[in-house]
Amino acid sequence: MAAVICREEELEKQEMIPGSVDNIPVFVCRTSEGEIRAFIDRCPHQGACMSKGKIDGAPMSTAPGEYSFEHEGDIVRCPWHGREYNLRESGKPLAPVKGKLKEFSAYVKDSYVYVELKRGS
Ligand code: FES
Repeated sequence: MAAVICREEELEKQEMIPGSVDNIPVFVCRTSEGEIRAFIDRCPHQGACMSKGKIDGAPMSTAPGEYSFEHEGDIVRCPWHGREYNLRESGKPLAPVKGKLKEFSAYVKDSYVYVELKRGS
């Protein structure tokens, strides 16, 4: 089953547009490179609505006292407890915790963004 979530032109980088497909809450967004992605709109931790969070980057450290801000525009941060998930790595969490954001298929047809739930997804 697939559903239209928004018009392609409405979807800006670092923004999320929520919707639903067959009563499953989803959001669509663009990665830093402009690819359109779709994920479940519930955090795997305690179910927060991810589309009320923020897409940004994340501080990374390679040595004590050394930090850099990386992955700008590819990290979605949960609004409740701040867990971070990488949009370009299929919703993989940055921290070593259980659960990733479930990703769905997203595509553009006739200037509309569709999200498709595949059987078994
Ligand atoms: S509900 Fe998202 S980090 Fe807790």
